[in-house]
Amino acid sequence: MSRRSFVVGGANTAFIGKGHPDFIWKNHPDFGKRDNPGLEELLSSAVTQAFANTGVDPARIDRGYVGNFVGELFSKQGHLGAALAGTHPALALKPTMRVEGACASGGLALVSALDAIAAGADLVLVAGVEVQTNESARVGADYLARASHYRRQRGIDEFTFPALFGRRTRYYREKFGVTETDIGRAAVKAYKNANRNPLAHMKARKMDLETASAASDKNPCFLANPEYAPYIKMSDCSQVSDGASAIIVASEAGVAALGRSLADTVEIIGAGHCTASLYEDSDPTVLSTTAAAAQIAYARAGIRANELQIAEVHDCFTVTELLMLEALGFAAPGEAGALLRDGITDIEGSLPVNTGGGLVGFGHPVGATGVKQALELFRQMKGLCGAYQVANRPRLGVAANMGGDDRTAVVTVYRNMEG
Ligand code: CAA
Repeated sequence: MSRRSFVVGGANTAFIGKGHPDFIWKNHPDFGKRDNPGLEELLSSAVTQAFANTGVDPARIDRGYVGNFVGELFSKQGHLGAALAGTHPALALKPTMRVEGACASGGLALVSALDAIAAGADLVLVAGVEVQTNESARVGADYLARASHYRRQRGIDEFTFPALFGRRTRYYREKFGVTETDIGRAAVKAYKNANRNPLAHMKARKMDLETASAASDKNPCFLANPEYAPYIKMSDCSQVSDGASAIIVASEAGVAALGRSLADTVEIIGAGHCTASLYEDSDPTVLSTTAAAAQIAYARAGIRANELQIAEVHDCFTVTELLMLEALGFAAPGEAGALLRDGITDIEGSLPVNTGGGLVGFGHPVGATGVKQALELFRQMKGLCGAYQVANRPRLGVAANMGGDDRTAVVTVYRNMEG
């Protein structure tokens, strides 16, 4: 990259929704007494905390990007660049904008910041936000289906995305002889990690391998599509969460202007952003767009997959975690299940993956997810993860954020500047 980019720090709000103890719904004791935070509160909270955590003066920010997918549908609010400018008086009149790429909106906000740094900016605010719980999961599924090719794919099931990934699960399992238990281990790890993360949507819900390995009354298959219904249970799904994340990205001069040492930061040493046609489907057993983005990111970073010590992957469904591990070069096709089975991707393993719980455990407020992934890697590298901190602070890490059915992919590689 022509000018180097460094993550200085940031903040996540709690990710909440059904199943979170603080989430207000009709059976909650506070129902009618208080509301869940909305889009404005969440975005403001993440940005304000990011400034507080990093000590960055908002007046110094050169540009701002906010990732969001469907604010217009869930919150009847668009024009979120102006919402970002509204999070602090000192941001007024600065160039801020919203970036959209379905569930990769946050990743796109991040690569927009890298472009801005390359073009001469020194301090860039990157945020992501989504609110999804003010509609039922079924109505929300129709909104989220806008990330598919709606005209062609909406009819697959009322729960379009769970069905699209039910399709991937079916073909992946059939092609490689992968079992439901092999995939269920991804859910068990996600909930186990989330149980150690105070900001996680599923911080208080347990998941055992028996429950995650077979449909049951408490963990039903819920699709109407008979071909894919057996392949997706509740426990295979990412959460319908509300939340926001924000980070500050700086150039070398920007880090110096903050009076910081580069050692306090995490450098983004490579990024790959690939987009495939919305109008076509590719091999369901491979995330080919993500794999292409990974190759670009690794080449730019000058590294190989086997040098990476930690990963944040877009587990929108449990099968996606396995497909991601293969697309990122950590396992051969069909073999990612062994990494989960052998504990390699556990917090205590040699390649911890989604230590805060990922999209299944931490939650998936769509526009925030890509930003949260970058912040999670920063927090692990700086020893800030508390009960889910890995033992040895990683030096090299990767994040993979995906939009739609692997149509937009953003892969970023991080180096801890410490030591
Ligand atoms: N037995 C049978 N069926 C049951 C059931 C049971 N015990 N419990 C629930 N169901 C069925 C019902 O059909 C129910 O629908 P109705 O409410 O209309 O009756 C349906 O499951 C949903 O049930 P709930 O509303 O109780 O479930 P929930 O609110 O807890 O949601 C979920 C569960 C549907 C799995 C939801 O978490 C979900 O949709 N998750 C996936 C979210 C998603 O798709 N995100 C996008 C990921 S894709 C991506 O990241 C890329 C991109 O660009 C979009």
